Amino acid sequence: MPFQLPKLNFAYKDLEPYIDSLTVETHYTKHHQTYCTNLNKAVNELPELVKLSIEQLLIKLPTIPEPQKTVIKNSGGGFYNHNQYWSTLSPKPQKAPTANLMRAINATFGSLDNLKSMFSGTAAKLFGSGWTWLVKDRNSAIDIITTQNQDSPITLSYRPILALDLWEHAYYLKYQNRRADYIEAWWNLVDWKAVGDYYFNS
Ligand SMILES: [Fe+2]
Repeated sequence: MPFQLPKLNFAYKDLEPYIDSLTVETHYTKHHQTYCTNLNKAVNELPELVKLSIEQLLIKLPTIPEPQKTVIKNSGGGFYNHNQYWSTLSPKPQKAPTANLMRAINATFGSLDNLKSMFSGTAAKLFGSGWTWLVKDRNSAIDIITTQNQDSPITLSYRPILALDLWEHAYYLKYQNRRADYIEAWWNLVDWKAVGDYYFNS
């Protein structure tokens, strides 16, 4: 199988009290794993896809024939988006961006607090299932965008540097309909070191 779940940098219980252990375990071992399994099935049906990275598959998505195109859009997007989500979470996060990323944030949003406020507001307003992202565009400018379902910023020519999963499976066990509380709690886990690494290395 070409794709496997990345190992988490923490135990399921380590994100408590912000995200509960059962939610992390179910999210990773069931939801994320199912996206990975279905992605592998679709890729194995078309030999020309087997050697591509997940990023290459999502960039190439418009040219992939059906029915694999829809599976890769949903399950490939789901696989990649969740990789991004887990990789910027930490029980012991770096609490603030390093100087260069902070300069970009200040230039675009005025301050880190403004970025957080705009990001949270955008996330709270997303209708249905989807994601809010901090992304870098082709000119290295940063922006906040949302995507529906498992659509991925990669397909839209953005490089994601921070991912927030807004599907109910990400928070419903602990927060039920209180999405805003989940968003506020999630900020406590955001590792600005990992976000900065994406900003500089992608
Ligand atoms: Fe999810």
